[in-house]
Amino acid sequence: MEMTEQRRADGSLRHLLTLEGLSRAELEALLERAQHHVRRLGEPAPRSNALEGVTVANMFTEPSTRTRVSFELAAKRLGAEVVNLEVQLSSRVKGESMLDTIFTLEALHVDVFVLRDAEAGVPAMVAAHVAPHVSVLSAGEAHLSHPTQGLLDALTVLQHKRRCDGLSIAIAGDIRHSRVARSACHAFQTLGVKDLRIVAPEALMPDPGEFNGCTRVTDIAQGIGGCDVVMMLRIQKERFANTTIPAGDDYFREFGLTPARLALAKPDAIVMHPQPMNRGVEIDGAIADGPRSVIRQQVTNGVAVRMAALEILAAPLAARRGR
Ligand code: NCD
Repeated sequence: MEMTEQRRADGSLRHLLTLEGLSRAELEALLERAQHHVRRLGEPAPRSNALEGVTVANMFTEPSTRTRVSFELAAKRLGAEVVNLEVQLSSRVKGESMLDTIFTLEALHVDVFVLRDAEAGVPAMVAAHVAPHVSVLSAGEAHLSHPTQGLLDALTVLQHKRRCDGLSIAIAGDIRHSRVARSACHAFQTLGVKDLRIVAPEALMPDPGEFNGCTRVTDIAQGIGGCDVVMMLRIQKERFANTTIPAGDDYFREFGLTPARLALAKPDAIVMHPQPMNRGVEIDGAIADGPRSVIRQQVTNGVAVRMAALEILAAPLAARRGR
């Protein structure tokens, strides 16, 4: 993707379609702003009027629980007006009908589109057609990218490890079909992680040429060994037809995160998972609920990161509207 596609003429970020091309300083600014919105559970949620007068449309054409709800809450907690559309696209002529929907919403004064789509290229296509004051955020594009997930993963690591430089991070599971892995790797590498391992059975490894700078490991024990962070991923069954991947119990035996395998990581290693998770397939349920799991913190951080992204992208618009 052209790095300039998501920027205004002055270089500022207008859309968030990918983390590719974002500088370390830009990531750090987003994460710092996000941390400002983090609250302990039980405290009131953060609120501001930074997006008052702005209308946000969430358009999700793939299932989503956490991402959709957290984008909605993020926009509302910034004072924006929010509409949610669950678009049924079974037989859509992609492009045209999607753009008709977008233009309709623009005519209804929607200023920000949050898009999740199973097809590659949709967020960039929409971004190329919207009016100049409108911003587009990707909430997950095919297997390719999930920028706010990459940001929330980075924020979670920073909260627990204070820095990314010098860490050993293993991302394990279905790397091949994972937009989470792709965006997390961009974030971690930009923030200085050198020992970044992608751990997967051969059939779930990405093609050569992808994940440059990461070490490929097919043995889970070896992949996790000595790590500070272990991120487990779900098998993205909906993205491929493959019968060579062992199912359920067999996958767990060969590749799941068990207590014995986690014991190979550093004693203070944290365990992450973007969810939805399959307990007893890629991760032992007791680990997911255990003291080293930061999985629920990832969810909490998701709202904070999405608030930060919405604020930063819509800042010029909000400023023009007197905010
Ligand atoms: C992920 C996704 O949709 O890419 N979920 C999420 O956004 N937290 C991961 C998945 O579906 O496995």
